[in-house]
Amino acid sequence: MTVPIVQSGTEVLRRRAQPVPLEHLQTPEFKELLERMFATMRAAPGVGLAAPQIGVGWRVFVVEDSPALMAGVSETELALRERVPVRPRVFINPTLTLIGDEQVTFFEGCLSVEGYAALVTRHREVEVSALDEKGQPFTWRVAGWPARILQHEFDHLEGTLYVDRMNPRSFGLGSLLHKRFSGKTTPEVLEALQP
Ligand code: CO
Repeated sequence: MTVPIVQSGTEVLRRRAQPVPLEHLQTPEFKELLERMFATMRAAPGVGLAAPQIGVGWRVFVVEDSPALMAGVSETELALRERVPVRPRVFINPTLTLIGDEQVTFFEGCLSVEGYAALVTRHREVEVSALDEKGQPFTWRVAGWPARILQHEFDHLEGTLYVDRMNPRSFGLGSLLHKRFSGKTTPEVLEALQP
């Protein structure tokens, strides 16, 4: 049920995705698309996946952050990032509002820029309104790591990748950055990135 995740360089990742036609929501094809997205995200594994990442130019993304995915992350890092579990959720034709002025900077990666990571500054809090998998409208206001996931996935629907927003000096292979900087705070990382 998993499908390949398209990589940066593929056109669909750089186009604005189109609204999902509402009459499409209850079709078997759309339900299958959502199942494929969840299966592909979980297998990767990742905490979010937008339709363009599997080559579908529609405004829909899924998220899920489970305790299993956090198992390898220290309590300190979870707390710093305000990373808490997110149940599986579907966002169809979402709108995103940035809340307040507070911004936070952490490493993030993308399944479509495989292997790499960089520091990205994002709003700490957002509000997203969307339709769920049943076509019901909902609004979710959230701060911390889930807000970062939502901003990252919403960007995919706009043809934007985190590399457009990153601190370029911090960009590198995730495995190497993890070895160098795990346990360090963002100010310490920024200091260490100076020549
Ligand atoms: Co991504």
